[in-house]
Amino acid sequence: MEEKTIDENKQGEALILEAKKGNTRKLFIESYGCQMNFSDSEIVASILADQGFNTTTLLEEADLVLVNTCSIRDKAEQTVRKRLEKYNAVKKINPGMKVGVLGCMAERLKSKFLEEEKIVDMVVGPDAYKDLPNLLQEVEEGRDAVNVILSKDETYGDIAPVRLGGNGVTAFVSITRGCDNMCTFCVVPFTRGRERSRDPQSILEEVNDLAVKGYKEITLLGQNVDSYLWYGGGLKKDFKNASDIQKATATNFAQLLDMVATAHPGMRIRFSTSNPQDMTEDVLHSMAKHKNICNYIHLPVQSGSTRVLKEMNRQHTREEYMALIDKIREIIPDCGISQDIIAGFPTETEEDHLDTLSLMEYVKYDFGFMFVYSERPGTLAERKMEDDVPMEAKKRRLTEIIDLQQKHSAYRTKQFVGKTVEVLIEKESKKSDQYWSGRIPQNTVAVFPKENYKPGDLVMVKIEECTSTTLIGKAVGYS
Ligand code: SAH
Ligand code: F3S
Repeated sequence: MEEKTIDENKQGEALILEAKKGNTRKLFIESYGCQMNFSDSEIVASILADQGFNTTTLLEEADLVLVNTCSIRDKAEQTVRKRLEKYNAVKKINPGMKVGVLGCMAERLKSKFLEEEKIVDMVVGPDAYKDLPNLLQEVEEGRDAVNVILSKDETYGDIAPVRLGGNGVTAFVSITRGCDNMCTFCVVPFTRGRERSRDPQSILEEVNDLAVKGYKEITLLGQNVDSYLWYGGGLKKDFKNASDIQKATATNFAQLLDMVATAHPGMRIRFSTSNPQDMTEDVLHSMAKHKNICNYIHLPVQSGSTRVLKEMNRQHTREEYMALIDKIREIIPDCGISQDIIAGFPTETEEDHLDTLSLMEYVKYDFGFMFVYSERPGTLAERKMEDDVPMEAKKRRLTEIIDLQQKHSAYRTKQFVGKTVEVLIEKESKKSDQYWSGRIPQNTVAVFPKENYKPGDLVMVKIEECTSTTLIGKAVGYS
């Protein structure tokens, strides 16, 4: 969700799919924000492939430009506004080009977008992508088109995303949509609606399909994967009204992990994001049981102060979070753990900030994604709290958090020097065309000389040295 959420991600990179024969229209689609947006764009491109569109990476030749947007922080929205200016310039050369806004900004701003940004012809919220063919028709007939209706049951489970543009090795599979947690700082529950889970059967089918196509690693995606619960469809909050049979046959996240890992022992499995309040010991046991589930948990904490956590409406204390860390280390001793932290949430004092730093010392996270608090319209924090930490203090606290994280990342990375670790080769190293790049189960990047290996190979690599974020070694054979 550099608006990442779930993991590090690419910014505004145009998605490219294999051309479909007979398609003549050109779609330029790019995504900002979280991995869910990147995954959704694949669904959108698949829907539009049936409407005669092939993807292009050349903005200038596009008949339709779609931008999948992020609202998580103000900066993310500003980035998208800048992109719209660029599209506007291109439209002067290519007046027939239509522009659509997808994702969280579409949902947040709705038809206001059409007034604010004259360039925009179409506004489509995250649950309305199946309506794209109708919306396009409207646009072609010269009308503005808006659909921002949020759904109770849309999971796009029946749409097989075509994804031939990535590295061919790793892919995302979404398992839940929306979020019911209402963290007071967060706009996601408003832009992505209520939480619903996807049918495990359709998840398994998608993973099967990826396995057949040669993919070697999948990341199960959701705003809050640990609260995955399938009981035949519908909102998570309505589960209490489900029938006894539905309750007895429901599938939770630990069971889903077990099912996917058992069905595909040759596929590496990751998941994101975990919410501390919903992560169960069963999930940890599923991870420990299956070698192909990577020992890595992204476990956002947001703050190390119980008082601030309460103001954020996070449903756990500092001590409960630490106890969960202890549990993880007990059940999966070599687990990689990463965080999200917000600096300068309303009312945060120096003492609260020191609590965050001391919690970081306790965990010594492998990675982190750290942000200054950005007030989001419509959230509880915006309505009820004053954004009272001066920007200067927010930025200084953020710097202290980032500096400490860098120290811990370097410490964690160093622990692997001298060890032999499993690496899934994803692509060529950015620094040298003589090296492959991939990740170890704990998610740290490792590079090593290519020899005769190829992307998609699972290789054992002896780590000889490291930078603060990258392991450097030599392959010693297949895993
Ligand atoms: N559960 C989600 C969280 C989405 S938001 C997931 O899948 O990752 C990702 C991160 O952005 C949050 O963990 C939080 O650290 C940060 N964030 C969310 N709202 C924010 C805000 N208003 N200001 C600053 N950071 C925010
Ligand atoms: Fe946002 Fe909290 Fe959900 S961070 S996505 S409301 S778990």
